[in-house]
Amino acid sequence: MENIHVVKNPILINIVTKLRDINTKSYLFRKYLSEAGKILLLESLRSEENILKKTKIETWIGSFEFPVLNEDDFVFIPVLRAGLPMLDGVLELIENGKSGFLGIKRDERTLESKVYYSRLPDLNGKTVYILDPMLATGGSLINAVTKVKEKNPKRIISLNIIGSPEGLKSVTSRFKDLEIYIGSVDKGLNNKGFIIPGIGDAGDRAFNT
Ligand code: PRP
Repeated sequence: MENIHVVKNPILINIVTKLRDINTKSYLFRKYLSEAGKILLLESLRSEENILKKTKIETWIGSFEFPVLNEDDFVFIPVLRAGLPMLDGVLELIENGKSGFLGIKRDERTLESKVYYSRLPDLNGKTVYILDPMLATGGSLINAVTKVKEKNPKRIISLNIIGSPEGLKSVTSRFKDLEIYIGSVDKGLNNKGFIIPGIGDAGDRAFNT
C-alpha cells in the first residue's frame, strides 16, 4: 500500500528493539519514543514540498536570503498518553511547530476506542501530524483522523512506531489520503487486541503505571 512507509533506518530499528525489551524502564522508554518520533518525522519530510521559504538573515558578510522551515505550517497532535513523548522529540526539530491534543482510550474489553479529550488549534490548510507509538486495531487512529478532518487540514500524516497488518488495513481502507510512517509492522494482534510481539502497553510502560 503506497501510503504506508515502513522506515528502514537502522537507528530506528535499534530503538524499536529497545522498546520491545521489557527491562527498558519508563525514563528510557520515553526517551526512545521521543527519538523514534524524530526519525519518523525526518523520513516523512523527504516527501514534503514547499516547506522551505526564503528569509533574509544577517550573515558575517551582509544580509542575504536563505531557506528556513515554514514552521507555522506544522501542527503536531499526540494521542494521549503514549504519544506525548513523541511530541517532545518532534518539537526538538520543529521548534516553533504548534501542538494540539487528543485523549483517546480503548475499552479493554470491547477494544472500542473513544475520544475523551480534544483540544485542537486551527488546522485549516495545515500539515497535521498525528503521533501515537501504537496502531493496533486502528480504532484510535480512525477516531483521531476523523476529529482532525473536521478542521480542514491540508494534509494528515500519522507517525507510528509499531503497527499490526489488520490495523493498517482498516485505517488505510477508510482514509485513502492518509500517509503513515511506521517503524515496524508486526505479526498481528492477540485476542486482547495487543500487537504481537509489539512493545506491550506503551502508555503504562511510558508512565510507569
Ligand atoms: C493504546 C495506544 C494507542 C491505542 C492503539 O492506547 O497508545 O493509542 O492503544 O490501539 P488501537 O489501534 O486498537 O485503537 P490506550 O487506549 O491503551 O491508552 P493509553 O495510551 O492512555 O494507555
